Amino acid sequence: MSVGVVVSGGFDEVVIRQKSGERIEIGELLKAGDILLQVFDLDYGSLMSGTDIERIGGMQVEGYGATSIYEEKLRNYVLARAKPIYDLRRGGLPKYVPRFLGEVERVTEEDLKFISEARFRKPLYLGKVRSGSRVLDIPVYVDGERALTHHILIPATTGRGKSNLMKVLLWNLMDQDYAGVLVLDPHNEYYSYTRDGKTYGLSQHPRADEKLLYLTTRPPAKKNAASLTINVRNIRPWHLSEILDFSDAQEQTMALLYRNYRDGWIERLLTMDPEATSYDQRTIVALQRKISYALDLEVKDGKVIERGKVFSLSRGLSTIDDVVRALEDARIVVMDTSSIPERVEILIAGMIAERVFRRYSSYKEMGEIDDKPVISFVLEEAPRVLAGERATVFGRIAREGRKFKLGIIAITQLASLIPRELLANMNTKIILGNEMKAEREAIIGSASQDLSRHSTMIASLNKGEAIVSSIFTGFAVPIMIDEFEKLVDGARGKGERKGTLVPLW
Ligand SMILES: Nc1ncnc2c1ncn2[C@@H]1O[C@H](COP(=O)(O)OP(=O)(O)OP(=O)(O)O)[C@@H](O)[C@H]1O
Ligand SMILES: [Mg+2]
Repeated sequence: MSVGVVVSGGFDEVVIRQKSGERIEIGELLKAGDILLQVFDLDYGSLMSGTDIERIGGMQVEGYGATSIYEEKLRNYVLARAKPIYDLRRGGLPKYVPRFLGEVERVTEEDLKFISEARFRKPLYLGKVRSGSRVLDIPVYVDGERALTHHILIPATTGRGKSNLMKVLLWNLMDQDYAGVLVLDPHNEYYSYTRDGKTYGLSQHPRADEKLLYLTTRPPAKKNAASLTINVRNIRPWHLSEILDFSDAQEQTMALLYRNYRDGWIERLLTMDPEATSYDQRTIVALQRKISYALDLEVKDGKVIERGKVFSLSRGLSTIDDVVRALEDARIVVMDTSSIPERVEILIAGMIAERVFRRYSSYKEMGEIDDKPVISFVLEEAPRVLAGERATVFGRIAREGRKFKLGIIAITQLASLIPRELLANMNTKIILGNEMKAEREAIIGSASQDLSRHSTMIASLNKGEAIVSSIFTGFAVPIMIDEFEKLVDGARGKGERKGTLVPLW
């Protein structure tokens, strides 16, 4: 059934006159012949002169009674501006324009069935196809291994559903065994929380015991929970360089201390009497101050006292190893960093990422990498680690992780703070609503498809509505993301879940 007719425009933008009685929405998917179109703007159109229109409006509003317009349906209408996005018959970008004065219809599930027909061995479910605000029963999957190693960006204004989306992605990954994921969770919102008196979170997944590891400073008595305690013997000088600024002299002294005392270098440094060493006294004092502060350690009478919640001299020797092993076993590791300082969070994450990077580089060298799961790092508030001058292991993963089966999922309200080069490297962008123009421009400027007309559309996205722009999708697909709590409710009581049939594209 037609909802309009092509009246002008061209290759880049098709103008459609809306049929009276129909309502075309911004973001809606339409079909003109074989060409899939997406509406990006709506205008009024009229055959009447401007002064006539203003006169009629004036009569109406000034109480001269309702005016009736002769053949109104014909004379006044809405114009929808749409962008041709896909050739439904041949696939790929359309290379021709729709027929002039050709009729335009709404897309049907039948038209978009091809999206869910491809099959992937390692699927990553994103959501359902959405046309404007109408949700179609067409699930959207991408090849999970490729999408994860080519990095994912999830940008949006606060409250539009970034964390919800991340929980949905992780929940579905827990059904699979191809990816290990480390989640830095500064709001402690992934593992477990209550809503309307019920418990939600990844801990509610039927496979949570085998697939989840939760690290927190106060772990609950659960099989999949452990204490976030890190032994200072695991810390190397270069880990600290990622979070603190050191002078050249300080860097050199740390390297020397590490060479001399290996694992015990921090303990030795902190308990050293600056006046009685052969090292430079001022450098030692400065290092003692910086490092004890960063690690929340105190030195009294030549003894180190643990003040903070995380770093220890006696416990936590295997924590980093345990996390790395869990990731290599394709588990989801949620690190609750809500009660620790940001620098400590970034230090620990960097230690884990660096260990993973080194192991995966050597797997690659030895030709063993094909048997390993992908490992992805979820960075909430990603500019904390991806912006700025400091070279971090995460920047390195964003640049070259793909070769080693490593990837990043960057979540942020401020994508514009992430260097352009890294943004361009994030080959799947799941774009949720964003009111800030500068942010939209940064996202659009680095997207895999031409989204130059999508700016208004992105501004108008509601909670859970997104556009997926990816080198792995034929066009920028509008999707609706599931509500996480519904997924959890759906899984409850089902008991053992059967393997699901997985569509692919
Ligand atoms: N797809 C969705 N369907 C229904 N409700 C949703 C959806 N996505 C998010 N919500 C709801 O919207 C609220 C905000 O979502 P969420 O916490 O995921 O936003 P956010 O983008 O992570 O925000 P912040 O920037 O503050 O971290 C939550 O109450 C969540 O349940
Ligand atoms: Mg959030």
